[in-house]
Amino acid sequence: MCGIIGYIGNKKATPILIDGLLKLEYRGYDSAGISTLEDTYISNIKKTGRVKNLYDSEGLDNLNGTIGIAHTRWATHGKPSCENSHPHLDNSNTFAVVHNGIIENYAELRTFLTNNGYNFLSETDTEVIPNLIHYYFSKDTKNDDGKFLRAVKSACNDLKGSYAISVISKLYPNRMVVSRKDSPLVVGYRDNEKYIASDIPAILSYTKNIYLLNDYDIAELYNDSVNFYDKNLNKISKDLKNIEWDASSVEKDGFDDYMIKEIFEQPKTIRETISSHLQENELCNFPELNISKDYLTSLNKIFIVACGTAMHAGLAVKNIFEKLLSIPVEVDIASEFRYRNPLIDNKTLMLFISQSGETADTLAALALAKSKGAKTIAISNVVGSSITREADYTIYTHAGPEIAVASTKAYTSQVVLLDILAIHFAEVLGSSASKDLEVLKSNLLKLPEKVKEILSNTDTIKDFAKKIYNEHDIFFLGRGIDYPVAMEASLKLKEISYIHSDAYAAGELKHGPIALIENGITVVGILTDSALTPKTISNLQEVMTRGAKTLIITNQSIKKNNFNLVINIPETDSLISPILSVVPLQLLSYYVAKEKGLDVDKPRNLAKSVTVE
Ligand code: AGP
Repeated sequence: MCGIIGYIGNKKATPILIDGLLKLEYRGYDSAGISTLEDTYISNIKKTGRVKNLYDSEGLDNLNGTIGIAHTRWATHGKPSCENSHPHLDNSNTFAVVHNGIIENYAELRTFLTNNGYNFLSETDTEVIPNLIHYYFSKDTKNDDGKFLRAVKSACNDLKGSYAISVISKLYPNRMVVSRKDSPLVVGYRDNEKYIASDIPAILSYTKNIYLLNDYDIAELYNDSVNFYDKNLNKISKDLKNIEWDASSVEKDGFDDYMIKEIFEQPKTIRETISSHLQENELCNFPELNISKDYLTSLNKIFIVACGTAMHAGLAVKNIFEKLLSIPVEVDIASEFRYRNPLIDNKTLMLFISQSGETADTLAALALAKSKGAKTIAISNVVGSSITREADYTIYTHAGPEIAVASTKAYTSQVVLLDILAIHFAEVLGSSASKDLEVLKSNLLKLPEKVKEILSNTDTIKDFAKKIYNEHDIFFLGRGIDYPVAMEASLKLKEISYIHSDAYAAGELKHGPIALIENGITVVGILTDSALTPKTISNLQEVMTRGAKTLIITNQSIKKNNFNLVINIPETDSLISPILSVVPLQLLSYYVAKEKGLDVDKPRNLAKSVTVE
């Protein structure tokens, strides 16, 4: 959703801020803006549309300040317009603010400020913040150096909802004040230069040394130092973290789009995920967990909770957990889970999956689980993200930064990681024959090569994409372990190609959806479980009889029959087959979207991390 970048140092801020905004584009936005401090004056330029419009705007070159803040806005309160985009200034142009999140009590605060003589120029919730800061600043009768900090703190005390804010002031040309609550913000450290960002990739090419802010923390940044405070303005100390991500991992590296680059990275990312927990001829290893056999024996249920693709990763591993542990597993959508009063107690283990670690619904579901006494494990890709700080334990997927809105490499890493976790629990519990676990482990170790093999021939998928890109409806069918893959393929296709698609458990067809099958419609069948293949083939025959075009993804030796195209993928244990069967389907949605001439990395209306409910 919205993105924040800020700089304070000895270089001209504008190029660094624009570069950061370009790196934040993937979060999804509809306008962008920048403010820099020129001696005792705040310059402010805002544009609707792409960051490029801001970059091309007259006057940008004249912003010479070495302190600045910039923002990409994804409209919530008020339409996408220059007036509504950030940074927002107070009435006296003393304070400029960029803000991510939602101020739930903004109407009340606006009334209060209006009654105190303030005017509003935008429809946003954010505009109350600079004016509140000004209000408290002007009421503070102490004229010491802490006045700016106190004004920001007092304003934050009044805010209900979520915020990550960065504030500059023309009265303090050598500092920046930032704070956060329920919305991510990091401080990047380099000698004589400091950075702030809502997302690490925005500043990764400048520094890998990061301070993570907790809720209500306030930081006061100078070019040569940073002071951290708690919500009562007591000074606190923080550890500097070194982020392992490589700056080149946020570049396209010669690929047309981030999405295709990330699809092709999967042999490497899967290998990284595996190598952290699984070595040949050894027991699985999760040093970050402290889960005993007694605890696992006491469990009556495992919940896996997440949103979107991450939730599909949960569905893809339900079977392996249940089969290896004989413990019932429920997979739930975080936005539903948080409101349905789920049955949780201290015998429930909760797994929360989130690539970004910032998804509002997943975080709320985690808070609920904790309040009911369950042990919680976060599976995340982003070091220090909110979910990793809230959960009892965190396991990182090590997929590297995922920039494309459509999640690909994060999904396969999530599934691989959870498969290994299921085997680890089975090893601790002794709940499965070790011979079976060894076979599974050896199959997991072979996955990177098998994904590579799938990626070595993309021509047939490209050709098929050319045949179907003009369609209005596409159906995905699968049984058992193939059904969650059908769901993931359908989500991928709709989010980047805007083609309506649905996924069905193949056996459900006759209970309604088959009414939609008519001549020429495309149906994609996924078949990776030999026990279920004949059944799914029968369902596919039924749609072909009604004129459907069929694409089959399979690791079974099936006859071509009258299928339009059969894509063969390498064989593996059906419990872990989603890691392979999803790859041609990721490619299919990518090539369909490219045929349609769409921006695959930044699909309309979507944001990479959904930080509001
Ligand atoms: C994936 O392609 C989607 N963009 C989306 O469903 C995503 O997986 C979902 O929003 C969850 O995000 P998270 O993993 O960062 O929590």
